[in-house]
Amino acid sequence: MSVQKVAVIGSGLMGRGIAHVAALGGFETVMVDVSDEILQKALGNIRSEMEKGVSLGKLSTDAKDAALERLVVETSLEKAAQDADLVIEAIPEDMKLKADTFTRLDHSAPAGTILASNTSSLSITEMAASTRRADRFVGMHFFNPAPVMKLVEVIRGSETSTDTTQFAKSFCLKLGKEAVEVKESPGFVVNRLLVPMMNEAFNLLMEGVASPEDIDKAMRLGTNMPMGPFELADFTGLDIGLDTMETLHRETGDPRFRPSPLLRQYVRAGRLGRKTSRGVFDYATTP
Ligand code: 3HC
Repeated sequence: MSVQKVAVIGSGLMGRGIAHVAALGGFETVMVDVSDEILQKALGNIRSEMEKGVSLGKLSTDAKDAALERLVVETSLEKAAQDADLVIEAIPEDMKLKADTFTRLDHSAPAGTILASNTSSLSITEMAASTRRADRFVGMHFFNPAPVMKLVEVIRGSETSTDTTQFAKSFCLKLGKEAVEVKESPGFVVNRLLVPMMNEAFNLLMEGVASPEDIDKAMRLGTNMPMGPFELADFTGLDIGLDTMETLHRETGDPRFRPSPLLRQYVRAGRLGRKTSRGVFDYATTP
């Protein structure tokens, strides 16, 4: 099955990154969110990311203009899904919200449309069960910043067909990404390894073992990570990290995955990272 039109549900950090990549990959793309105001802001972000790509010599002005022409916005989920070949969901990590959204998508999208979730760690099988097409349901986990990061984890739920998995992998290739196939398991591969490491950094900080700057420096210089664990947590969102730890802990019952009390406290205080101008570090420019 060939893809012409892609609907991306959600225009947050990941949704807009995926819409950016899909439009640049040559696909008619519709990005959906609850209000036009939110969508216009996301479009502005995509435009400036693409302009940055042009200034870095990664993208021609023509390719940028053509991609922006292929990208439209829509507040109706039903309208966006009605002629989409592939729908990629990137809404908050709340199973009930996702299941309700997929039930609606299942009713409006044509029978052959593939439904995909960009969830960081929730069960693909459970989301698929809220539709009548569990065989045509797959996880497609992109990484932030989606236009730059090469990897997509393609997650197979218990009912996902081989054809659907192949479809998702070949779509990733058309976007210029590399795919790894992963069986459903909490946190998949990357977040199962990466997020507990970030969580442990919060425990180190809580125990007063080193300063946040030195913990980041240690991992940057000691393991060649481009960002230390706190810079990365602020970049991806502390709430996303906490959600992932909670899923790992709940699903496995393994105490190794217990969320750090300090991470939980920061999230409770609204210190979610760059998006709230304060996480482990402070990003506010004005008092
Ligand atoms: N368009 C196109 N290309 C761009 C671009 C843009 N807007 N912005 C940057 N690039 C390219 C650059 O040209 C450069 O390419 P090159 O290596 O071929 O020269 C490359 O991207 C890196 O860009 P920069 O050198 O300008 O930027 P930095 O060196 O500051 O790197 C970073 C920025 C890529 C974000 C780097 O810090 C990094 O890799 N950080 C870690 C990111 C990471 O781990 N993400 C995963 C988070 S986990 C996740 O998302 C899962 C979720 O479920 C929580």
